Amino acid sequence: MKTIENYSLLNNNTFGVDVNARYFIEYDSVDELQYLLRSDLLQENKFFHIGGGSNLLFINDYEGVILHSKIKGIDAIEGTRSVVVLKVGAGETWDSFVEYCVSKNYGGVENLSGIPGEVGATPVQNIGAYGAEAANVICAVECIDVKTGMEKIFTAKECEFGYRDSIFKRSLKGKYIVTYVHFKLQKTGWEPNVNYGSLKDEFAKYPEQNIAAVRSAVLAIRGRKLPEPKVLGNAGSFFMNPVVPVSKFNELKSTYPDIPSYPVSEKNVKLAAGWLIEQCGWKGKSVGPVAVHGSQALVLINKGGANGLDIINLSDSIRASVREKFGVELIPEVNIIFG
Ligand code: EPU
Repeated sequence: MKTIENYSLLNNNTFGVDVNARYFIEYDSVDELQYLLRSDLLQENKFFHIGGGSNLLFINDYEGVILHSKIKGIDAIEGTRSVVVLKVGAGETWDSFVEYCVSKNYGGVENLSGIPGEVGATPVQNIGAYGAEAANVICAVECIDVKTGMEKIFTAKECEFGYRDSIFKRSLKGKYIVTYVHFKLQKTGWEPNVNYGSLKDEFAKYPEQNIAAVRSAVLAIRGRKLPEPKVLGNAGSFFMNPVVPVSKFNELKSTYPDIPSYPVSEKNVKLAAGWLIEQCGWKGKSVGPVAVHGSQALVLINKGGANGLDIINLSDSIRASVREKFGVELIPEVNIIFG
């Protein structure tokens, strides 16, 4: 393990914001992480743990220690004729893991193809796309308690998963570091889950209606709508889709009959933030070095050389427009880090 001082995080955040970390450390194992947590450096400095940096926005230099897991491995730890449980290192790239599952014909994560980031972040954020979310397949999460260095395994129920949400974002925020995630995948009896919007039509184009075809269909749709972070800095959806009471939804529906919506419960309805932003005229608009993506208004992009404040200012302007036009509050989905 090497401690690097004044480390540029440019390649560790997909927004492509050029900030420095006072210290940067990568570790390869649970033992190394436990050792680090006891070290003077971590006892004396604040620290922040990153994954693939695909859901982060750094506002300025980070005056502490940035930690990054390189814990690797995909191991089958349980299995029957119909299911397999894979234990996956937090430092594995999410999409390489999805690719692995598809190559083995294990069903359950194919709808989540192409999502940037690393496995350790998937339970924290409960990543989701095209009618699926990580919570559908996660059966346990192995963590280290930051204070005591002790291992703890959370069951899926204990993770309290919700829409882009888990206990690790709320009451346990910053208290645990994920080291391994256990995923339960199907070996037999797989059925495609392709009812989400455009996925059905895209999937129908493939002659073989199998797991690999779902992955290809999802990657094709993502490729059309979402910018490639290596080409245009971005962190996927910048905002969460807002959840509003049914009464608020009915009020909006009477003025905007085409407003897209998804039922959440008897009391609440989820709206499409991308649609709200587009209706306010922001889609494709640039403000200096930042812009709203032209194919998906939920994505803010760094056209080159933007800093965190440029992006926050654009986010604030968008939020004000949506608040004024629809009376709806947009909440950033991206984790905003002040150094
Ligand atoms: N829409 C617009 N204009 C836009 C964007 C969307 O009118 O600019 C409308 C679409 O026509 C559709 C609805 O909004 O009726 C939903 O759009 P889409 O299917 O593109 O999905 P989304 O709700 O905007 C969510 C996730 C994405 C995920 C897609 C597909 C959130 C915050 N975002 O976006 O996740 O890929 O569904 O499942 O839930 C991410 O988290 O980084 C991410 C990209």
